[in-house]
Amino acid sequence: MDKIFPEVGRVALLDDIDEILIPEEALAGRIRELGRAISHDYIGKEPLLVGILIGAVLFTSDLLRQITIPVHLDFMATSSYGPKTESSGIVRILKDLDQSIEGRHVIIVDDIIDTGLTMDYLLETLKARYPASLKVCALLDKVPRRLRHVPIDYRGFEIPDKFVVGYGLDYAGRYRNLPFICVLKSQIYGSEPIPSTFPVPRRTLDQPVSPASAPVAGSKPRPVR
Ligand code: IMP
Ligand code: MG
Repeated sequence: MDKIFPEVGRVALLDDIDEILIPEEALAGRIRELGRAISHDYIGKEPLLVGILIGAVLFTSDLLRQITIPVHLDFMATSSYGPKTESSGIVRILKDLDQSIEGRHVIIVDDIIDTGLTMDYLLETLKARYPASLKVCALLDKVPRRLRHVPIDYRGFEIPDKFVVGYGLDYAGRYRNLPFICVLKSQIYGSEPIPSTFPVPRRTLDQPVSPASAPVAGSKPRPVR
């Protein structure tokens, strides 16, 4: 493990890792493909990327650098009420956009779609502001936990029902600086339940989840479209 991430002071973080799900190179390769697809689809449209703070900040900035057409950037921050590691479905906007999106081509960029409750709320909220178009780009898709159907237009990887950290994603504010997506050792959670692992009954879905089209974490990346 220290061959992968050898810097001084990081050893303590590495000790907490059980398994690397998506290595750094796989993230970079897939994000390059997503950037290429967006650049192709939005020629002449000057899209606005809306990164969702804090988790998507690394993904948003790497994706931005892979987009080769004129593009704009803004951020929103949300929080969900309820237990800290589970989505309650009640979403609060902590930081809103700095600009109007009326008539603009908006792409929401998020780290992970889990239950889909946050993205469902964001889509409803931004749709009401009359954008010319509104799409979703998510690095990770945790399909088995979906409670709301969310149309993911640009998807990085499908992942299994495991709580993941790294590359912007945190547990208790930690691990965002790890350059890969990984799973923590169960003892890190102490007496807390391991977050994000309850089974979601399929019948609670309001619409069927779209068929898989993104690479599954751990497998070889495939082209976007
Ligand atoms: P959702 O509303 O359940 O889709 O959850 C959305 C947010 O929950 C994500 O944007 C993340 O901030 C957080 N989240 C969900 N699953 C994970 C995970 O496995 N690791 C870290 N954060 C997660
Ligand atoms: Mg998030």
